[in-house]
Amino acid sequence: MKSKLIAGNWKMNGSLAANQALVEALIVGFAQARCGVALCVPAPYLAQVQSLIAESRIDLGAQDVSEHVSGAFTGEASADMLREFGVRYCLVGHSERRQYHTETDAVVAVKAQRALAVGITPIVCVGETLAQREAGETELVVKRQLAAVIHANGHCISEIAVAYEPVWAIGTGRTASPAQAQAVHAVLRAQLQAATPHADRVHILYGGSMNAANAAELLAQADIDGGLVGGASLKPVDFLSIIAAAQ
Ligand code: 13P
Repeated sequence: MKSKLIAGNWKMNGSLAANQALVEALIVGFAQARCGVALCVPAPYLAQVQSLIAESRIDLGAQDVSEHVSGAFTGEASADMLREFGVRYCLVGHSERRQYHTETDAVVAVKAQRALAVGITPIVCVGETLAQREAGETELVVKRQLAAVIHANGHCISEIAVAYEPVWAIGTGRTASPAQAQAVHAVLRAQLQAATPHADRVHILYGGSMNAANAAELLAQADIDGGLVGGASLKPVDFLSIIAAAQ
């Protein structure tokens, strides 16, 4: 059985001083961990965190990647640039990018391609809004979001990770129940199985108000291979408890 993966998404939080304190606390507590741990940090802090985690088993992650290779795209960071800082994972299509930067399924698929091309594992984020859930469209929405990435990435698809993040659970304190989350994860696993014989290798993470209290039950579900943690990843004690729940 593959080990679980716990990824922290710091979003637009942090400072040089706060990052150092947080990462040092994690490294001390993480010494015994037997699961994968990654920190998806704001781009300006990649070099700092790369150096802080250099001697640890924590992996570096980015929160976004440009759909372009290079050139006149002010403000963007390419996959090659991320790779130079030792980035191993990169979020693509986070709901906040889809919502505030109008990222379409097609753009997200190209971003996943850019990451894969340089050996970075894209963590493809999918998830429905509350209105879509209430309209019974959850399965339709997440399958459409993942289908675009599968279509664009062909046989490389077993090299991605997926994060199911119901939009209504992000930052709200309202977590999907383990059964609700597992049901969607099973749909996503079946979709991957139809695309690759290696679907079992793909980490499918749950994200959305995961915390120290609810992590163990979520992570015990058959198709939940880890977590993508926002707010709780900024608190070392909470994040370490989630990591402990993933062992
Ligand atoms: P919260 O854990 O703060 O709900 O955020 C989830 C998330 O968006 C992680 O990418």
